Amino acid sequence: MSDVGVTDRVIINEVGPRDGLQSQDVELSLEQRFAFVEALLVAGLKHIEMGSFVSPKAVPQMAGTGDLARRLGQRAGTQLSALVPNMKGYELACDAGVDTVAVVVSATETMNQKNINLSMDETMQVARAVIERGRAEGVRVLAYLAVAFECPFEGLVDPGYVRALAAQLIDNGASELVIADTIGAANPSQVKHLMTALGDEHGAAKLACHFHDTRALGLANIYAALESDIRRFDSSIGGLGGCPFAPGAKGNVATEDVVMLCEQMGCATGVDMPALLNVVDLISEMLGQPQGGRAHYWLSRNAA
Ligand code: COA
Ligand code: ZN
Repeated sequence: MSDVGVTDRVIINEVGPRDGLQSQDVELSLEQRFAFVEALLVAGLKHIEMGSFVSPKAVPQMAGTGDLARRLGQRAGTQLSALVPNMKGYELACDAGVDTVAVVVSATETMNQKNINLSMDETMQVARAVIERGRAEGVRVLAYLAVAFECPFEGLVDPGYVRALAAQLIDNGASELVIADTIGAANPSQVKHLMTALGDEHGAAKLACHFHDTRALGLANIYAALESDIRRFDSSIGGLGGCPFAPGAKGNVATEDVVMLCEQMGCATGVDMPALLNVVDLISEMLGQPQGGRAHYWLSRNAA
């Protein structure tokens, strides 16, 4: 463990176009989703999860992600990824030219059933198959461990079990392991313990965190993870988000809050705050409701 230092870089993976939009009542058009991702690129975000290849019946907000991916193309120095729940999703993503996909394993039996209608064993088999195929075909596969601290159906999750699942996914060859607090129930002490243990086991460079801000602990959890040497975080512009299959999940920790925290502590994110705040305005307009993280009031008066 080391102090969070001035020379550090933090990688922010913007998940607003997927996690953020999948739970909105308003369904954006492809044109709007394209403009949203373009604006995020203008703000300097180099890692963006732009959508998911899931059943349009399950998540209508993500219908047309293939067309979006084709239209966006791949950009040099930029990772435009998509979530895939199964091999069909993986194939659709590859057909659309996506070169980084995210597979999701939930850390409890019930959450896997509710999310993708598979048992834990079946979900692990799917994840393993996608990771192996990705390795063979030169596609980066990010493995997510969802509800890694607490599940809305089964309650607290044993950190030892999470570590065992993490080891399996990393041994299978996942490019990166993302520990996700899907319902925003973790506290900084749990985060520090789990991320330090995982860092000792696999190296912090392979790890990332994904926090929701349901109990206002999103930024505190980011700080705890930073102290455990984690330097890759998911976040969502304006704090958009939530999982339609996990009751009680509020939005992700807001990208502008995470950028503010990191930059104030001397960690470079490469993100341009005024341009980021323009994206908050844009998405607020598209969704017809003001969006914004916890520091929005201050940021919009002082950082623009
Ligand atoms: N993309 C698009 N369509 C897909 C698909 C994919 N990745 N996987 C399956 N489908 C289609 C099938 O072709 C089938 O279509 P049809 O009804 O027109 O014949 C239909 O979905 C049902 O397929 P089936 O294999 O029986 O899946 P299911 O009904 O058990 O649903 C999922 C499984 C994974 C497709 C569905 O639960 C899903 O998309 N969940 C989304 C989860 C999510 O996005 N969670 C939030 C992020 S973690
Ligand atoms: Zn999430």
